[in-house]
Amino acid sequence: MSFKNIIYEKKNNVAIITINRPHVLNALNRETLLEILSALMDIEKDPDIKVLIITGTGDKAFCAGADVNEFKDKTLMEILEFIELGHRVSTMIEDLSKPVIAAINGYALGGGLELALACDFIIASSNAKLGQPEINLGIIPGWGATQRLVRLIGIRKAKELILLGEMLTAEEALQIGLVNKVVPLGRLREEAFNLAKKLKEKSPVALKFAKHTINAALKSTLPEGLDYEKMSFIALYSSEDAQEGIKAFLEKRKPVWKGK
Ligand code: COA
Repeated sequence: MSFKNIIYEKKNNVAIITINRPHVLNALNRETLLEILSALMDIEKDPDIKVLIITGTGDKAFCAGADVNEFKDKTLMEILEFIELGHRVSTMIEDLSKPVIAAINGYALGGGLELALACDFIIASSNAKLGQPEINLGIIPGWGATQRLVRLIGIRKAKELILLGEMLTAEEALQIGLVNKVVPLGRLREEAFNLAKKLKEKSPVALKFAKHTINAALKSTLPEGLDYEKMSFIALYSSEDAQEGIKAFLEKRKPVWKGK
């Protein structure tokens, strides 16, 4: 698969999507979103890929948001299509059956942060700056931040980020639970791979069920969510991996996952 705006690699059962438009700080235009979508589809159906890492080229930006040129002289229908495309990408990341790690190597602004919000883990470099600056352009976030930020960091902090449009440092983002970990830029890739390695050692079936069941909490009431958890548990219990995991524990040995 060859792409113009992203670098798509597979290494030791880990897929890496690197947004590669450094001349615009890796801003996302329509073409880039379509390329990410097609990489995501490939990752979903490749049984050898266990984890996805998303990052950006260079040491300045993960992604400075939607490419603002996409908003110039467009019809309402064209803008709607662009917004819906961003939703498709973020929802596909969120629903991917494999864990996704965002490795934020600098600015993660607007749609860039929204992409990261859909990931399961965020590791940020210490020079990273995160924010939703859309308000400064007279617009609002359109790829999920008004909804996902509220659920992730609460309505108070979500309003602070979206209404003021100011940037957080990586440390500030860590303090409010927006990112999992902050590391020096030079160690970002290594840390993302270390995390991927830990995830690769788990049963892929259990990871998929865990991810989807946790995500269900964002869409349901507590009784609905608990029902979903119960049904997920039962479905997972019938997998070969669950049987193997329980057997291996009782036999005091390491489990051998089949991913079934
Ligand atoms: N869309 C399109 N181009 C963008 C962009 C975006 N979201 N973000 C940055 N760029 C371009 C700049 O226009 C500039 O292009 P040029 O070299 O042709 O002038 C290039 O990337 C470098 O950016 P620059 O602004 O010169 O870098 P900086 O270090 O001074 O500032 C930022 C960095 C991130 C603070 C600044 O680029 C910025 O505010 N970007 C927009 C962020 C934003 O509002 N995102 C949400 C969009 S809806």
